[in-house]
Amino acid sequence: MMNITIIGSGYVGLTTGACFAEIGHHVICVDNDEAKIAKLLSGSIPIYEPGLEEMVTNNVSSGRLKFTTDTGEGVDFADVVFIAVPTPPQPDGSVDLRFIEKVAREIAAVLKDYKVIVDKSTVPVKTGEKVAETIRRYATPGIEFDVVSNPEFLREGCAVEDLMKPDRIVVGTNSDRALALMHKIYEPFVAPVLATDINSAELIKHAANSFLALKISYINAVAAVCDASGADVEKVAEGIGTDKRIGRAFLNAGLGYGGSCFPKDIAAFIAISEDLGIPFDLLKEVQDINARQLKNFIKKIQDALWVLQEKKIAVWGLSFKPDTDDVRCSVAIDLVDTLVKEGAHVTAYDPKAMEKVQELDVSGKITLAPSPLEAVDGAEALVIATEWPEFAAVDFEEVRKRMITPLIFDGRNLLDPERMTTLGFQYTGIGRGLHSSAPAAAAVETAAPRSKTPA
Ligand code: UDX
Repeated sequence: MMNITIIGSGYVGLTTGACFAEIGHHVICVDNDEAKIAKLLSGSIPIYEPGLEEMVTNNVSSGRLKFTTDTGEGVDFADVVFIAVPTPPQPDGSVDLRFIEKVAREIAAVLKDYKVIVDKSTVPVKTGEKVAETIRRYATPGIEFDVVSNPEFLREGCAVEDLMKPDRIVVGTNSDRALALMHKIYEPFVAPVLATDINSAELIKHAANSFLALKISYINAVAAVCDASGADVEKVAEGIGTDKRIGRAFLNAGLGYGGSCFPKDIAAFIAISEDLGIPFDLLKEVQDINARQLKNFIKKIQDALWVLQEKKIAVWGLSFKPDTDDVRCSVAIDLVDTLVKEGAHVTAYDPKAMEKVQELDVSGKITLAPSPLEAVDGAEALVIATEWPEFAAVDFEEVRKRMITPLIFDGRNLLDPERMTTLGFQYTGIGRGLHSSAPAAAAVETAAPRSKTPA
């Protein structure tokens, strides 16, 4: 088993560190945020990720997982040092590499003997070369080290599972010595290790995320054609997804992709390619289609409600996807923001993200309900913005009773349109046409009188 240090105890660093400890390695997670390290030392996990808290607690008590703010202590301890610091976007979409550069200098300053320095953060192609150059410049002359690119492919909400059971492990290095150590780290994992040069490994990450975003935008573009033609995008996705060459995953039409990775990584890949003199216009269209999804959806709500001013709209789901409390770049938040700007009264519910929402400006302009049913009390429309599975299990007869007008706008195609229309709703999804048991006006007429709207 090996001694591993992870510099950066954020989402990626902490999860990776916990999983390495879980398979038996000895791990130190370093962070320069003293408050965060103090919290972690007291057993509190700053993020919600299924299975993580238990894994951290178990490995801390077994002595395999430690935390510190001291980079020197971390580097001295380790055979392999992972860098997992943020690589945020700049206003033009390119990647801000100042934290990577700073950590490279910090490692160099405390380097005493041979270490493998692994970049886990998502970085532009050729960053590894720069990291090696920086360490060489700032380290004591003559000290040996190798730089490796080992991108992460973990998804929020199932990060632990993705890390423990990866599809593949990409290791980019020019050194056999470093490769042998990386094989040793990943030996307990049942997954193929793909050994490449550093540049290819770095490129794999941006190319993979961009391809996944492209799949989403592709099905969303098809969904628009389905809406215009009366076809059902769910059937189309099934029909094309069963072709092994295409695959069904990431063909869920909806409000588009959000989160802290896809929007940033696609913008970065466009900027990186442009910088290399290779404009990647296909990815610009991927971005445009994604931006159109919310606009078109809001238009559907406007077409049905005519005027949004003063309308009471319930929104289910605020996180950028289910099984996470993360609201960064969440399309659901953009949606709520737009509805509020149009003058609607929004009451929202999310199973996990309500605490995080309270840190956002929009929280002061909406009401947060304690349950999905309370959110729809007196509502004139229900909007589903995130496909939490539990929303499908809500008692929709009760929802119908509580709403003033039974309009459902399903931004994630979570519900069964047939069932909803049978229950008396007018249902609008993405690329599924309009489903209504009766014309919209009649549906409104059968609902409770407008005067029952709570103040
Ligand atoms: C993603 C990548 O999957 C992961 O490999 C990488 O390391 C980080 O970025 P994550 O951001 O956690 O992970 O979320 P993911 O599950 O990939 O979903 C991204 C966005 O795409 C979400 O907003 C989701 O709602 C949307 N999405 C996903 C769709 O709209 N349709 C789909 O079919 C799939």
